[in-house]
Amino acid sequence: MVDVSEGITDRFGRKFEKLRVSLINECNFACTYCVSDDANGRNHLEPNINTAPHQKRLNTREFIESITLVHDIVNLKSIRLTGGEPLLYPDLAGIIREIKLLGIDDIRLTTNAYYLKDKSVELKQSGLRAINISLDAVDGEIFRMMSGNQRMQRVLDGVDDALDAGLDVKLNAVIMKGKNDNQIIPLLRYAGHKGIDIRYLELMKMGHLYHHMDGFFFSQQNILDVIQANYFITEVSRKKSSTSNYWNVPGIGNFGIIANESVPFCGDCNRLRMDSFGNFYGCLSSSVGIPLMKESGNREKTVDSLKRLLSYKQSHHFKGNEMTMRYIGG
Ligand code: 5AD
Ligand code: SF4
Repeated sequence: MVDVSEGITDRFGRKFEKLRVSLINECNFACTYCVSDDANGRNHLEPNINTAPHQKRLNTREFIESITLVHDIVNLKSIRLTGGEPLLYPDLAGIIREIKLLGIDDIRLTTNAYYLKDKSVELKQSGLRAINISLDAVDGEIFRMMSGNQRMQRVLDGVDDALDAGLDVKLNAVIMKGKNDNQIIPLLRYAGHKGIDIRYLELMKMGHLYHHMDGFFFSQQNILDVIQANYFITEVSRKKSSTSNYWNVPGIGNFGIIANESVPFCGDCNRLRMDSFGNFYGCLSSSVGIPLMKESGNREKTVDSLKRLLSYKQSHHFKGNEMTMRYIGG
């Protein structure tokens, strides 16, 4: 393998090292920040503004071909499988095994965990290392309001299943003002009780929130204020290319905040994204997708396309995207 990754570096020294793959853009939840209210509780799919109608979701072989193409050029360090809801992908364990065979050992999953119970052991044995579980509330009614789903206990059972299997587990909670900001402390206590880290996410201008998220925005500082009113905290230093700032609460553990809006981390971003149709994206702010596999056989062209994708990264700040996270891979 010729490693030309050094050649695909931008003026900030950024290069692609991690790939996020949206395996499927469907989801069994309808999170309020992801699916617009006019869905009336149904999980309707907003039209993917980037995907031509003739594009079909890839199967495992096609996903692996696309991943291989990129891996041969940039030597990926890590892959995160997302969606939509990746547990709805029919061959999740199979694709994890195939990725592992490519020599990529750091394989992670982001899921709502609804279908996780009794699956974690198989996923771990297939090569999965770590799992981020989205949990926006530990109060059943607020959970229902946030996710459109009644059965929070299934998600909590999923958390336990992942822990029992020995996976590295983290929780993700998107915080919205007036909706679930009263869950910050209960979530922190739940995570502390389970011995896992939780990361709070600032709301991002994506999908239907692209034009109007301001009323719901709850900043890193707002989150810290809530926690500091209850606990003494100390800051933990941020790892390079990490999306999260971390703090420690004695007796509870660490929590992080992904402050995409108020403390942007574009400066050392190393992420490349792929949707479930095989389109690649250089930045969460960009809806320009390039179907790299269609150009295969021509390594130079793929290298050029990767350079172009890298140039779509924002220099400083996330600008928002009309696509929802479910298409572009969270
Ligand atoms: N803002 C912040 N986080 C979001 N997610 C999805 N949409 C948004 C948004 N608009 C989160 C999910 C999940 C991860 C994939 O991205 O809650 O944790
Ligand atoms: Fe599904 Fe994730 Fe969107 Fe929620 S945020 S509806 S879990 S894709």
